[in-house]
Amino acid sequence: MADQAGDGRVTGEGLVLREWTEADLPAMVELFDNPEVARWTPLASPFDLVAAARYLDAGHADTRRLHLAITTDGRQPLGEVLLSLDHRSIGLAITPTSRGEGLAVRALDLITTYAHETLAFPRVIAEIEPGNTASQLVAHRAGYRPAAEEPQLLTSRGREIVVVIWEHLAAASGQDGPMAETGVRLVGDGLVLREWREGDLPAMVELFDDPAVAYWTPLVTPFDERAAKAYLEVAQADNGRIQLAITTDGGRPMGEVLLMPETLSAGYAVGSQYRGQGLAARAVNLITAYAHDVAGMPRVMLEIEAENEASNSVARRAGYRLTEVEPRWVTEKGRKLALYTWEHLA
Ligand SMILES: CC(C)(COP(=O)(O)OP(=O)(O)OC[C@H]1O[C@@H](n2cnc3c(N)ncnc32)[C@H](O)[C@@H]1OP(=O)(O)O)[C@@H](O)C(=O)NCCC(=O)NCCS
Repeated sequence: MADQAGDGRVTGEGLVLREWTEADLPAMVELFDNPEVARWTPLASPFDLVAAARYLDAGHADTRRLHLAITTDGRQPLGEVLLSLDHRSIGLAITPTSRGEGLAVRALDLITTYAHETLAFPRVIAEIEPGNTASQLVAHRAGYRPAAEEPQLLTSRGREIVVVIWEHLAAASGQDGPMAETGVRLVGDGLVLREWREGDLPAMVELFDDPAVAYWTPLVTPFDERAAKAYLEVAQADNGRIQLAITTDGGRPMGEVLLMPETLSAGYAVGSQYRGQGLAARAVNLITAYAHDVAGMPRVMLEIEAENEASNSVARRAGYRLTEVEPRWVTEKGRKLALYTWEHLA
């Protein structure tokens, strides 16, 4: 629910979005004078007090866009949210010291609800550069999804940029979890990749309670009914990940493929009785195409141990290339191992 008070404030989600005032000029500098804002937005850089005063004036003169300071109490600005009334698009920035607290998702939720409910916009969009992972995650968590439109070429501060259009539809408000809204289902090459469901718990145990899965992946071992329940919960959580059962007909699960936008990487496992049929390679092909074409990810990575021959073959067969990046050392289940990075470019 987004409430609008008579003074142009929008409140809800523990936030108060309010107009900028003269007293906010130093806070504006703190918010906008940093490398991420310079890199991803068209604002002036460096952004000093003079730029802030200009921005404030321009904002007040601009009747076609709402420029609102994000606050928790109507006072100290922690960021800004923009809503273009003509374009029906939103923009967002959070002050560096206030990042990582979930403010962006709440502010985006709030302004989006306001746009749908108070302004009756059936669709709100966000234009996001494919490399801007943080913004993609925030948009995803707030229920935005890449729209069907082609990416657009824009000129921003003399730089040509490509932006992917993300959309939030009024009908999608209030549904639970990202998958409830999109129902990601990828079909092709003799496969149907579909979401995990409650009835898959026994199949999960059968697939994942396996020595190769235990050895080569971070999944818990033994992988019993309880582990399956916990895994299903994570798979269905609103965490930005896409985690799909590999099937040939939408029915029996034969493995899993997942896409993790937070690390721009994919992962997979196939049940021992289903290996050697090209399932993993085909599933990775499908999810990689989805990552590039739908999620707007320019690069997808796999992290694989040098000794995992089956997985290295899957990566090669799906068109990935082993990079020169130094291996990442991690300790998993008491084993110290080196993960090599493979990449697939759009
Ligand atoms: C890796 C894994 C997903 C492969 O699944 P799969 O469905 O059998 O793989 P595919 O049938 O798609 O095979 C793809 C390629 O790998 C090759 N391959 C499969 N298993 C292999 C093995 N044990 N040794 C060597 N190559 C192997 C296939 O021959 C094929 O190569 P080709 O196209 O040159 O013939 C499966 O073995 C598995 O689940 N392992 C445990 C979990 C794991 O390691 N996950 C990856 C972590 S990075």
